[in-house]
Amino acid sequence: MLFAKKTVLSRLPRHIAIILDGNGRWAQKRGMPRTFGHRMGIKNIRTITLAAQELGIQALSVFAFSTENWNRPKDEVDFLMTMPSEFDRQFHDDFEKNDIKVVFSGRRTRLSEENLRIMDRIATESRSRKGLVLNICFDYGSYDELSGVVRSIAEEVRSGTLSPETISSETISSRLMTKDLPPLDLLIRTSGEQRLSNFLLWQAAYAELVFTPVHWPAFTKNDLIKALEEYSRRDRRFGAVKG
Ligand code: IPE
Ligand code: IPE
Ligand code: MG
Repeated sequence: MLFAKKTVLSRLPRHIAIILDGNGRWAQKRGMPRTFGHRMGIKNIRTITLAAQELGIQALSVFAFSTENWNRPKDEVDFLMTMPSEFDRQFHDDFEKNDIKVVFSGRRTRLSEENLRIMDRIATESRSRKGLVLNICFDYGSYDELSGVVRSIAEEVRSGTLSPETISSETISSRLMTKDLPPLDLLIRTSGEQRLSNFLLWQAAYAELVFTPVHWPAFTKNDLIKALEEYSRRDRRFGAVKG
């Protein structure tokens, strides 16, 4: 363990993203309903956020509900829509104590007034905190995010405040929902699936990808350390040649 910690600390990602996958399968393997997996999955966001903060990570983005997850059965969607109030109930005190700042990314138009109110309050309350930033991606999808960026650029071009010749990758990055977070260094997906499922497509351009067979409710601090060790062994070249 000591050795593990030393390796990890030699090169740490600033910003980690996790696709929290496998809640349903984890529960079903135990003869429980999928919602039980979601319940344990929500609890685990707290555990892993605190672990990431302890390990010195600056930002953690978690994929909690995708723009495509509305296509699930109504009961399951209804359960997943209780997440903001559960975050508030379960995370509030520990996050305050640990100086953790919470932000949300995603579409707002399909969420209930009540959820928007809770999410806005959580974000406002934690706004000036200086610890880890937990970015909860809720009704998030990259196609939606990037469509919004293109729309805002088109409007600025139409109004004459932006000229098409000046549009660069920076023009796009500075309009993303993650614009205030460090660049994404490491993306982890649990549950053995090896795809991005419309998560942080632009941001992941040069992120290191780690896939683990562990289902999200069973993912521990030790699994996070293993992913960090894997990250620290990767040679990030960004298209260049290392001398
Ligand atoms: C991830 O677990 C949580 C959400 C998508 C909200 P899943 O619900 O996708 O679980 P599996 O992949 O079906 O096991
Ligand atoms: C991605 O997982 C969305 C979240 C983790 C919130 P899914 O389980 O919805 O993705 P697919 O269907 O396996 O691609
Ligand atoms: Mg899944």
